[in-house]
Amino acid sequence: MNVQRVIAAAPETMGLSAAEDMRLTWLMSAVEANRFLPAPAPENVFVGDGDYRAIGAEFLGHFVRIGGLRPSDRVLDIGCGIGRIAVPLTQYLDGEPGRYEGVDPVGEGIAWCGRHITSVYPHFRFCQVDVAHALYNPGGSLRGEEVVLPFSDGSFDFAAMVSVATHLPSSEIAAYARETVRLLAPGGRLFVTAFLIGPGDMERADARPRFVPGPEPRSWTADPSAPLGAIGFETGVIEAVLETAGLGIERVALGHWRGTPSAHYQDIIVATKPGARA
Ligand SMILES: C[S@@+](CC[C@H](N)C(=O)[O-])C[C@H]1O[C@@H](n2cnc3c(N)ncnc32)[C@H](O)[C@@H]1O
Repeated sequence: MNVQRVIAAAPETMGLSAAEDMRLTWLMSAVEANRFLPAPAPENVFVGDGDYRAIGAEFLGHFVRIGGLRPSDRVLDIGCGIGRIAVPLTQYLDGEPGRYEGVDPVGEGIAWCGRHITSVYPHFRFCQVDVAHALYNPGGSLRGEEVVLPFSDGSFDFAAMVSVATHLPSSEIAAYARETVRLLAPGGRLFVTAFLIGPGDMERADARPRFVPGPEPRSWTADPSAPLGAIGFETGVIEAVLETAGLGIERVALGHWRGTPSAHYQDIIVATKPGARA
C-alpha cells in the first residue's frame, strides 16, 4: 500500500495553483460570511456542535485541497444531515454536469434541505434512506449492512462521508464502501472522515475525545453507554475495509483530535476507484 500519510498544520493544495488556492480561500470566506445562504435554526441542527456555516466552508476547502474535488464533479454525500456540507457546495459545483445528491436517514434534515436548497439549486437533490441507527434513526426499517442507494452504477465522481464513519460499525462502513465502488465512475474518489487510532494516540493527554475500548474488536468509543456516539478504529481497519471493497487508499491526513497540529479535527482518508478519471 503506497499511501501518502500527511501530518500537517498547513492546508494541503492538491496541485492547485497559487491563484486557484487564493480564489478557494476567498470563496470559503464568502460562504461563511454570506447571510443569504440558507442555515437551519440552531435548535434544529442535529449534526453536532460548532458553527454550521464555518464547518461547511471548512469542508469545501478540504474537499478541494485534500480530496481533489472539481466544479464539474457529480457528488454523492452519504449522511448529508441538514445540509451543512451541501450549502457551501452550491457555490462551487457548476451544474453542468456538476451536481449533488445527499442521502440521510433523518427525514427532518432531508425535508429542510429540499425546502431550502433544492428549491433554489435544482441540481442539488436529497433523499431519505430509512436505515436504522441507534442514535439517529432508531425506528429505521432497513439494516445498514444491506443498504442499496437509489442511483445507477458509475454515476458519481466524488463521494463523501463527513463525520459519518465516526458513528457506524465497521460492517456498515463496509456496506457503504461497496456501494461507493458501484456508484463511482473509474478514477472517482471517496472522502471519508474517521478517528484512526494509532500507537501512542491513546496516551496523549491532549487527545479529544478520550476513547475507551469499543463494541467490536480493534474499535474505540468515547462513551460505552452509546458507543456509536463517537467510534474510532485502530489504524488499518477502515483502510482494509475500503481496500476489500475495491478502493485504493490514496492519502490519509491526520486530524488534530489526537492533539497534534492539523488543519482539520477528524482524520481524513481519500480512496480512489481504479481507472482513469474522465
Ligand atoms: C455528525 S452527522 C454529520 C452530517 C453531515 N455529514 C455533516 O457533516 O454535516 C452524522 C450523520 O450521519 C447520518 N447517519 C447515521 N446513520 C447513517 C447511515 N446508516 N447511513 C447514512 N447516514 C447515516 C446521521 O443521520 C447524521 O446526519
